Amino acid sequence: MSKLIVYYAHPGHKYSHVNQVMADAAGIVDNITFVDLYRDYPRFDIDVNVEQKRLWEHDVVLLQFPVFWYSTPSILKEWQDLVLEHGFAYGAGGDRLEGKKLMLAVTAAGPEEAYTHKGYQHYPIRVFLTPLEQTARLCRMRFPAPYVLYSALQAPVTGTVQPHVDGYRRLLEAIRDDRYDFDAAEKLDVVGYENLPIRAKD
Ligand SMILES: Cc1cc2nc3c(=O)[nH]c(=O)nc-3n(C[C@H](O)[C@H](O)[C@H](O)COP(=O)(O)O)c2cc1C
Repeated sequence: MSKLIVYYAHPGHKYSHVNQVMADAAGIVDNITFVDLYRDYPRFDIDVNVEQKRLWEHDVVLLQFPVFWYSTPSILKEWQDLVLEHGFAYGAGGDRLEGKKLMLAVTAAGPEEAYTHKGYQHYPIRVFLTPLEQTARLCRMRFPAPYVLYSALQAPVTGTVQPHVDGYRRLLEAIRDDRYDFDAAEKLDVVGYENLPIRAKD
């Protein structure tokens, strides 16, 4: 079994159609840790000691958020700035995250074809997520392909909310049960509910 912690960040949680359902699903997966950053730290007063201890105690750190302005909601930036401290996460003596994995589960309003060099977003979504990828590398963490839902605002009408949420639950359970193929996931750009590299149960 691997120890998995999910950090969820959505300032508009009550208006959400996708992340709220994903968060509900994650919150009831047994034997994982689920943290709702906006609920626990509405004033952004993140408890650095508590969160560093949590990171230290887990093998896989998964950040779940809607893409906001090609980046994370702001509390996740605050979390990075405060918790991923010099001497803890990087720099001299900063080896506490070495060998762990940093994963992302993101939703974006833009459609998949928009996130291409010819599309209106001009770049693949992985390009916008590069700061998080390099943060993981600086902290000597692995960075498997993010779990992505494009066209997230259309999902309630196209019927993709439930398959995406089911895929998310399968992803979390597979990580917990050591059935997620991280080597395969590192070779992919993004994963969705249709191509999760999950090994079958024995
Ligand atoms: C402030 C703000 C910024 C946003 N920026 C982006 C963006 O850069 N790219 C994108 O594809 N969608 C963007 N969106 C759309 C959200 O990603 C989308 O509403 C969300 O993923 C839908 O999930 P939800 O139903 O769980 O809220 C933005 C939305 C808001 C409110």
